[in-house]
Amino acid sequence: MSNPKHFLSLADIEASELRSILNEAHRIKSARKALPKGHLDADAPFKGETLALIFEKSSTRTRFSFDMAMRQLGGSSITATSSDMQIGRGETIEDTAKVLSRFVDGIMLRANKHDTLTTLAHNSDVPVINGLTDYNHPCQIMADLQTLEERGGNLEDMTLTWVGDGNNVAVSFINAAAKFGYKLRISCPDGYTVPGQIVEAARGRGAKIETITNPLNACENTDVVIADTFVSMGDTDAEQRLKDLMSHQANDALMNAAAKNAIFLHCLPAHRGEEVSASVIDGPQSAVFDEAENRLHAQKAVIRWCLKA
Ligand code: CP
Ligand code: NVA
Repeated sequence: MSNPKHFLSLADIEASELRSILNEAHRIKSARKALPKGHLDADAPFKGETLALIFEKSSTRTRFSFDMAMRQLGGSSITATSSDMQIGRGETIEDTAKVLSRFVDGIMLRANKHDTLTTLAHNSDVPVINGLTDYNHPCQIMADLQTLEERGGNLEDMTLTWVGDGNNVAVSFINAAAKFGYKLRISCPDGYTVPGQIVEAARGRGAKIETITNPLNACENTDVVIADTFVSMGDTDAEQRLKDLMSHQANDALMNAAAKNAIFLHCLPAHRGEEVSASVIDGPQSAVFDEAENRLHAQKAVIRWCLKA
């Protein structure tokens, strides 16, 4: 393949392409409503094709959703952690990319460093999909936006509010804002804000982003409240983070400040009593399990876009 279509960052992909991937995610989900989980999609477009799933860090949703996605699309996947592979013993990412390109039709990587992902993509002859890095988590946001739309939301009319750590998931919401037209408010305590150049770059592409330190003000009349762990994989200062970020817990006070039927999102895994109260994540406004399920449907649309049936 001369020009593989990689899915690395929502900032790099045209809005119209992302829109068509999301439309496809809705179509794929409704097309197999009555089918058992293990059955193939009617068209099973990737018979005989294989996606490598490589993990430098832990995963439940990403691992199972990509594997089931390939099965339902008629193909298969091979999962390995980096410590099972020679990259764990120092083989270069460049060589790994060239070798895997001879065996598989696509590669999904969850990497510690975003640079590892981009190096893999630059040296791969097959599409590379981002399964989360320290910089971003684009597949997650496609599933999140699918969840909002299937609950009747029109993204261009919506305000989404991120509360907590300005982390990799927050960055993907920022990168997607201009592409889908929602307004985004970001509320992080000092020391935990998203780097200013990422916000500025998104604004330069037309994103409507406000940074509002006070979480109550940030959630006022918002349509969606979004939280994520205060301690991401790779963070080494857990104790300090829990202390510093508790002011930005998603709790009943924030949900009460939000619009009447505001939706609560969290990519999971969650830590009840830390970034979110049990009353919110287990309450009636929470969409977190639909959101988790939609990883499967949204990623099938991403795989189709990359591998082009
Ligand atoms: N949300 C998410 O990516 O979950 P995993 O870490 O379990 O894959
Ligand atoms: N921000 C979290 C997301 C986990 C899916 C992390 O990087 O650990």
